Amino acid sequence: MIHSISLTVNGARREIELNDPRVTLLDLLRERLQLTGTKKGCDRGQCGACTILVDGKRINSCLALAISHDGAEIVTIEGIARGDQLHPVQAAFIACDGFQCGFCTPGQIMSAIGLMCEDQAGDDPERIREGMSGNLCRCGAYAGIVDAVLEAQASQTEDKQ
Ligand code: FES
Ligand code: FES
Repeated sequence: MIHSISLTVNGARREIELNDPRVTLLDLLRERLQLTGTKKGCDRGQCGACTILVDGKRINSCLALAISHDGAEIVTIEGIARGDQLHPVQAAFIACDGFQCGFCTPGQIMSAIGLMCEDQAGDDPERIREGMSGNLCRCGAYAGIVDAVLEAQASQTEDKQ
């Protein structure tokens, strides 16, 4: 049986037919919509490489069934820059060397954006570490990642003032 769902992905409305109700948002993004910036690390909710925003909240897309998110608004790493202007979190990751191989980076950046939207960590490195603990980095770039989130957080606070 074919199921039809409608998603808004990075601002564009997409009508999608699913042949299999078990397809995850991660596989839908990567294999059907060719949005391969979202990475598949473990495919079981353990690494955070697949983090995206769904209706403004960060989730592991490998654990989310696409069919359960009919009507949702999805933002992936491809959707956060504005033209040739990087998102402040992207710019901070570059400025602070928040990556090495880069495989975990899209998930780290989407998780950092989600964390900042949750407004829970502020400028406390410990809370940032805790808030980002669902995103693993095999290269061990954690110090730069925390610095990047702190920098992005500071630039957001400046913008609000
Ligand atoms: Fe989803 Fe690892 S690929 S948490
Ligand atoms: Fe290589 Fe994080 S930068 S896994």
